[in-house]
Amino acid sequence: MPSVHQPITVRVTSEAPQSVDVDAWVVPVFEGDDLDGLAALNEASVGHLAAARARGEFTGRAFEVLTVPLAGWKAGWLVAVGAGPRTEYAATAARRVTTTGALAVRARRLTRMGVLSRPLPAGGAEHVVQAIAEGAFLANFEGASLKTADPRRQPWLDELVIVAAESAGVRTAAARGALMGEATNQARALVNEPGNLLTPRVFAERAVEMALTAGLPIDVLGEQEIAALGMGLLHGVARGSKEPPRVLVMRHDPPGVTGGPVLGLVGKGITFDSGGISIKPADHMDKMKGDMAGGAAVVAAMCAIARLGVPLRVVGIVPATENLPDGDAMKPGDVLTSAAGKTVEVLNTDAEGRLILGDGVWYARQLGATHLVDVATLTGACMIALGKTTTGLFATPPAWSDEVRLASERAGERMWPMPLFEDYRELFRSEIADFSNTGGRYGGAITAALFIKEFAGDLPWAHLDIAGPAWAEEAKPYQPKGATGAAVRTLVELALAAGAWAGH
Ligand code: BES
Ligand code: MN
Ligand code: ZN
Repeated sequence: MPSVHQPITVRVTSEAPQSVDVDAWVVPVFEGDDLDGLAALNEASVGHLAAARARGEFTGRAFEVLTVPLAGWKAGWLVAVGAGPRTEYAATAARRVTTTGALAVRARRLTRMGVLSRPLPAGGAEHVVQAIAEGAFLANFEGASLKTADPRRQPWLDELVIVAAESAGVRTAAARGALMGEATNQARALVNEPGNLLTPRVFAERAVEMALTAGLPIDVLGEQEIAALGMGLLHGVARGSKEPPRVLVMRHDPPGVTGGPVLGLVGKGITFDSGGISIKPADHMDKMKGDMAGGAAVVAAMCAIARLGVPLRVVGIVPATENLPDGDAMKPGDVLTSAAGKTVEVLNTDAEGRLILGDGVWYARQLGATHLVDVATLTGACMIALGKTTTGLFATPPAWSDEVRLASERAGERMWPMPLFEDYRELFRSEIADFSNTGGRYGGAITAALFIKEFAGDLPWAHLDIAGPAWAEEAKPYQPKGATGAAVRTLVELALAAGAWAGH
């Protein structure tokens, strides 16, 4: 698979931008901006910036782009990007503005970009610098990577200079942002990859390559080990496919960290979901190559956690298989026995994600996890409830839910708390087994979450239903169509914040 994203060299400087050697300056401009601090830049644009504002050509509304030449500066171009209202400018706006500007820089066939981070309403320079680095990386990504000839192919950015008051904290933030952006791109690339190329075995190979580069220990369990562990739910799903299943097991064990919490991340790794015998309709079935987005998020986040040297033990588990109909496939009415010992009646073979996650969550507990997060493109119902761009957050106890939500806010990923009504468990009661794998149409995202909860025991546990956000149906100025890398940055932010939640 040709490379679909490239890293960028990032540095922070407090030098005067006039003399910084880049090709273009990306500059956020607010609605109603008085251009304070931008007088020299406006002058270098021969007044074009202020004139375009005065004419109403460029108002500062979010993601407008104005590209004008600069005279007398090292850089030849100004890329002014609308940043919306000044009072709402924070990390999320900075990330999106930077991506928008960076794409404009690439479209000009330029490779070295500077970003002027404007004065902020209430501090937060480190968050904004991190977001700028992330935003630049997110623009250094191509979705259509299997085209044999693409005349529109643009060069990669190779240098990013962020102008900000220099400090150790700000430099660390820039490096962290680069890693976060890189990890998001890695997940996007895996999710975009077609199902015929990214089978469970290839997914495992990719994860091994990524983990080796990141210095992250990884084991790949094959069919025999899966059978030996008694993972009957994963095995049940995998039976319908000629491709053998895998379980990716990643362990971040930083030296000197012995006691304390162990974060367990579990990702759904269905490399293609046809629905199995309960087969899906043909329309949009192609999108089901992205049904391993949760697994990709866990692999990418684990690599970033290792590279950042986060002082916390973390285990990452990704059960990976296809879900196909075949002579040997599981059938509606079949009863499977999970590794945890509980029996499950399969009423719908298309509710396969919760099955493999049941065994995955069990295994994370076996490996000593004290706090759990699972990530999955789990239900269409969650998209109906919250829309395409919001992740459903199902978690218990409330303090753990809050920690995950706060991490998602720092990551700039919208997640919304959803209920876990205990009495809804009766919706997936079975006549013959401990429970069934579907709870019917109504409240489908909640019953799916409650199913996974059956395997989480009493541990703090959060389930992220990313069925909507994992895949962008429409391009945005800051986001191409296709895989988004949803949840990667939230998982890393959560691990980085362990100091805040280790006690509970
Ligand atoms: N992978 C799908 C969920 C999904 C749907 C993700 C659309 C992204 C976009 C999942 O395995 C599934 O098929 N869920 C079923 C559950 C039902 C059979 C209880 C669903 O949501 O319809
Ligand atoms: Mn399914
Ligand atoms: Zn699925």
